Order: sequence, then structure tokens, then C-alpha cells
Amino acid sequence: MIEDKMIILAIETSCDDTCISVIKDFDILSNVVSSQIEIHKKYGGVFPALAKREHQKNLVPVLRQSLKIAKLLKQENQKLDEEELKDILAREQGLSKKLITFLKKYQKPKIDAIAVTVGPGLEPCLWAGINFSKALSHYWNLPVIPINHIEAHIFANLINTEIKFPAAALVVSGGHTQLILMKALGKYKILGETRDDAAGECFDKTARILGLSYPGGPEIAKMASEAKRQKNIKLPRPMIYSKNYDFSFSGLKTAVLYNFKKQTKISKKYIREMCAEIQQSIIDVLIRKTMRAAQEHKAKTIILGGGVTANKELKKQFQEKTKELKLEFLVPKTKFSTDNAAMIGITACHHWPKKKTKNWRNLKANANLRI
Ligand code: KG4
Ligand code: ZN
Repeated sequence: MIEDKMIILAIETSCDDTCISVIKDFDILSNVVSSQIEIHKKYGGVFPALAKREHQKNLVPVLRQSLKIAKLLKQENQKLDEEELKDILAREQGLSKKLITFLKKYQKPKIDAIAVTVGPGLEPCLWAGINFSKALSHYWNLPVIPINHIEAHIFANLINTEIKFPAAALVVSGGHTQLILMKALGKYKILGETRDDAAGECFDKTARILGLSYPGGPEIAKMASEAKRQKNIKLPRPMIYSKNYDFSFSGLKTAVLYNFKKQTKISKKYIREMCAEIQQSIIDVLIRKTMRAAQEHKAKTIILGGGVTANKELKKQFQEKTKELKLEFLVPKTKFSTDNAAMIGITACHHWPKKKTKNWRNLKANANLRI
């Protein structure tokens, strides 16, 4: 049950985006994302220690902006016990100074709870958001709702709609590829997952082989859209016919590497065709496995979530297939596919008040948290 007009401040720092959102009873009042792409681009991937430092830098400005957009920021000088806050944020370099300055300047906003991603994700990054939430929870005396990032990617679909159960949910992001059977909200069974690289990771790593920048997904999608329909390159569809629902994408990456090394000349035409084939190989495997799972478990709905579902071609082909099989199809808008805190807040609304805790001291990051 949700209390009347419950307002949640949601925080997400599991990877390389610093995200804070304010949700009022399922309505999004603000949804601020500070992307670190430009920083990680130079290295071709996310470096956890570097990402954590960026979160430490960005959390307070993103909080201020998010509260301001939600019209919850009011200036008023405050007194506070700095020592306790410094203690909570001892491992978050530079963050306590920024937060103390902020808290001294503004009154407690009219919010009822704080939601924060506790896993899965990059552990140092998760801790930045968690410690920040602990400090706010302590200072503003608010309960915290710990949130699972994978569940939030699924719940990103609930922003405007309802789900008909049972449903087969495919979560495909930079860190995860999981096929999940949902019998109801909150009732999950993992049917299969990747044994090595995640689908997004495969986009990122193959893009890097081809000399494209990070993140690889959008780059590959762009190149693929410019490819002619000729089929000179044929890549494997790993585990497409296997009887289970597991995935494996590292072989695909190796196949791309061998093919690339064999070329004497790398033309734009080759890169475009290669990108189209990488994208299609990933889509073929994802669609076939998801549809087989849906049929076996008599699913009424197919749900997609995670950064890879920002891929237009993937959405189009899933749309066609689900139409043919007369299944409901849910996919988030692009801004809610990739990491954001609105999905964290929406998930928290569903879990309120069951999962809230006043005991913020016990909150821990869990890099391998399961749904
Ligand atoms: O969900 P997300 O923002 O972060 C994680 O939880 O990992 O997903 C990021 C992943 C990256 O691997 C990125 O390359 C991929 O999503 N991605 C895409 C597209 N946009 C982002 N993959 C394919 N096509 C896209 N258009
Ligand atoms: Zn994600």
C-alpha cells in the first residue's frame, strides 16, 4: 500500500552515471543523470575507481539540481553536527565537505524516504550512493529503501503502464544479461543468464576492436543503420539452439576479433557491415531465447529492460515478433532504458513501506545481488 502522495528521493550510482530523481506517488518530478561517458571514453570502458571519484564529485550538484527541478529546494541556514556526517562519509573523498556546505544552506526538503541502489553493480560506485544516502537519512531522519538495480530496469516499464502476468523479462545491460520469469510483481525466477560477457559488454568490446568509441552500443547501432543489405560477413549465434536459457557472448567477440585481424584493408563499408552483423547476431539470440521461454511458460507479456534495449533495431524486431505471436510487449522509453534514478524511485514506490529501514547503518553494497 502506498501512503498518500508519498515523495521519494531516489539515488543510483551502480555504474558510470550519477543519477538522482524525485518521485511523487509514481509521478516523476525530476530525473537528473550526470553521465561520465566523456571521461571513460578515453579508456574504452568504465574504471571503477575513476567512476567512484566522479560520483563523489557529482552527487551534491546532482542532488541540488534534482531537488530544484522538483521545486523542493528552499534556502534556510541550518546548524548541524559535522562530525557524525564526516564519519559516515569517511571513505567518500571530498563528499562530506560538499554535503555539509549544502546541508547548512538548505532546509530539509519535503520528502518521505530515500531509495538507493544497493546492487548489483560496481562495488566502489555502489558504496558512493549508499554512503551518501546514509548521510542524508541520518541528517534528515528519513527511512531508506534498498533497491535491486535489475528489478528497477524491469520496473522502468511501469512508469506508464501495468503488466499482464505471467511475463518473460529480458534485462540486457552493460553488466547483465538475464531472462527472468515474472509470475507477479516481486515474484521472480531467473530462467537463464550469461555465462561470460553481458550483451552490452559484447557491444562495448566489439566496438573497441573495430576502433569505435565507448559506449559501443550506440556506435554499433549507428554504423549498422548505414550498412547496405549485402551479407558478406557471417558471425556465430552463440548458444541459440541450446536447450537452456543461458547466453554466451564472449565467442562472438572472439569471432569479430579473428575476422578483423584477417582483413588487409579496413574500409568504412567493412565496419558498417560488421556492425550490422554483430547487432543482428545479438538480436537473433536474444529474441529466440526470450520467445522460447515465453512459449514454455505461457507468458502473456514480454518485458525488456536495461541499456541495450535503447537499441532501435532490437526494439523493432521484438515488436514484430511479439505481434506475430500475439503477446503484449513492454519496453521503456530510451531515457528510462539506460541507467536512471526514476526507475529506482518507481521500484521503491512498489516496495513501500515493506522494504524501508530506519536502520541505515546496516545498509551494504552487494556487487552480485540477485533478483
Ligand atoms: O543499463 P545500462 O545503462 O548500464 C548498466 O547497468 O550496465 O547499460 C549500458 C549498456 C552499455 O553496454 C551500452 O553499450 C549499451 O547499454 N547500450 C546500447 C545502446 N545504448 C546503450 N546497446 C545497444 N544499442 C544501443 N543503442
Ligand atoms: Zn543498468
